[in-house]
Amino acid sequence: MTIIIDGKAVAAEIRQEAKGEATTLLEQGITPCLAVVLVGDNPASKAYVGSKVKACEEVGVKSIKIEMDADASEEALLAQIEGLNNDASVHGILVQLPLPKHMDEDRIIEALDPSKDVDGFHPVNVGKLSIGIDCLTPCTPTGIPELIVRSGIEMSGKHAVVIGRSNIVGKPMMNILVQKGNKANCTVTCCHSGTKDLTEFTRQADILIAAIGVPEFVTADMVKPGATVIDVGINRVDDASDKRGYKLVGDVNFDDVKAVAGAITPVPGGVGPMTVAMLMKNTVKAARMLHGIG
Ligand code: GUN
Repeated sequence: MTIIIDGKAVAAEIRQEAKGEATTLLEQGITPCLAVVLVGDNPASKAYVGSKVKACEEVGVKSIKIEMDADASEEALLAQIEGLNNDASVHGILVQLPLPKHMDEDRIIEALDPSKDVDGFHPVNVGKLSIGIDCLTPCTPTGIPELIVRSGIEMSGKHAVVIGRSNIVGKPMMNILVQKGNKANCTVTCCHSGTKDLTEFTRQADILIAAIGVPEFVTADMVKPGATVIDVGINRVDDASDKRGYKLVGDVNFDDVKAVAGAITPVPGGVGPMTVAMLMKNTVKAARMLHGIG
């Protein structure tokens, strides 16, 4: 029987834990606070920001939503970030990506105070993760070992193959999987668009993580029987039968791969809810760190 990994249930459990941690801070007079900055009106980004703000309400984290026009200047965004960096009541700052084309994402990320960088994208946090110093780490890849281990699947000693090398998922995923500890300790391979004979690598994976951004790219012939398959993709594809005119599919052909995998995440309801849950964890962690609470 293939395990269908229930991301909604695991995410609810983690939000509950974050709520407990937020309550402990509130009892000490600290209200954890997350500022979310949205530039422009990309519908997917708007939806993600909406779900982040909603999760804050549920968990007891104060949220500040800052919306800027798509044609706002980079200087205006930098000024917002500087204000939030200097505001002691704000513990987490998240700038929703992608930014409009005229903005330099690297420059914006580097302007964040690393101790408030709840996305874990700042070079200081990227460096700390790579050398194993406790820090804020990117929400989506940080949630994946939680999803696997809390579904009763061992990770230590397994061969994990990551498809994708983005700064948001693929690269931090490799650095997380290679760490010591029971929620990692994997042998790690990273495949990408330059990989020759991709299937040769993916078929060696005990844990296969797809973060490519291509709808239903991973098919059953690419998967070792019994493998754990984690689908990070969220792709909108046209669907005339859906009242929205589109449906969401992952980077994995779910029905095909389900037949060979030992465990698999669905889309939606797999990795997606975990990203927001880990953001809540990171926000309370940032609040604790900023107040010197261990
Ligand atoms: N866009 C897609 N994923 C993410 C994420 O994890 N954080 C931010 N800030 N933007 C994103």
